[in-house]
Amino acid sequence: MSRVYDDERLAGAYERGNELPEGSLRAWVELIASHARRPSPSIVEIGSGTGIFSAAMARWIEGSGVVGVDASEAMLAEARRHHPHPAVRYLSGEAEALPAATGAFDLALMSRVIHHIPDRARAARELVRVLRAGGRAIIRTTFRERLDAVVYDYWPRLRAIDERRFPGEEEVVADFVSAGLTLEEVTSFAQPVAANLMEYHARLVGRPQSKFTHLTDEEFRRGLVRLETAAGNEALDTPRPVLERYDVAVFSRS
Ligand SMILES: C[S@@+](CC[C@H](N)C(=O)[O-])C[C@H]1O[C@@H](n2cnc3c(N)ncnc32)[C@H](O)[C@@H]1O
Repeated sequence: MSRVYDDERLAGAYERGNELPEGSLRAWVELIASHARRPSPSIVEIGSGTGIFSAAMARWIEGSGVVGVDASEAMLAEARRHHPHPAVRYLSGEAEALPAATGAFDLALMSRVIHHIPDRARAARELVRVLRAGGRAIIRTTFRERLDAVVYDYWPRLRAIDERRFPGEEEVVADFVSAGLTLEEVTSFAQPVAANLMEYHARLVGRPQSKFTHLTDEEFRRGLVRLETAAGNEALDTPRPVLERYDVAVFSRS
């Protein structure tokens, strides 16, 4: 199946446009690590993209071993280039058929990937298969009912597009619970993704996210001009960090 992240241009632009401030990335890793039930956990990141999270987990979760699995060869190539780490292996594979042994992992992370997976129920059954008893699966996304990103201020049509692309909390929980996982918690919070609008503009100029493929070149350009104007005005005022909302759903395997 052809997927949006097979596009080498998008894979090449992803890294620069989706970097996180170190403090935000560290906070994520601490949150993920807090769900590990054993020291030196074995971790799988499903849809590991350019490896931002896989490498950060290997770096900051002591003794961990990480397998980053992605369906896109172009994204895997970017991960091996930008985020190599001796404790990370990047493997080609699909969420619905993971290249891993049964019971291989203590933790599974799916960050910004749940809306890309065509067969979510099958992916949930795969999670049950590859997690050990007591293992945890962490879904990092924004559920449809809480979409409120700054990006919609500049590209308003994206909101309706994302409302069609992103699943709601109940749908995801239903699929994962049907597969045999237990819902532990759902939390939701906003965090800084850029220091100010100028930096945010610099990130997005390369059209680094799949959502932008749903816009025409002209729509994208007009939104970028709106963002650039706002960034220019902000420079005269007091710049504020750009926040993005994420939901985190944690499931356990009994
Ligand atoms: C938005 S990126 C997220 C990358 C990374 N997890 C992050 O948070 O920065 C989504 C990634 O999921 C991958 N992906 C999409 N569908 C997939 C599937 N069914 N199985 C495995 N990977 C998939 C894409 O190739 C892409 O690299």
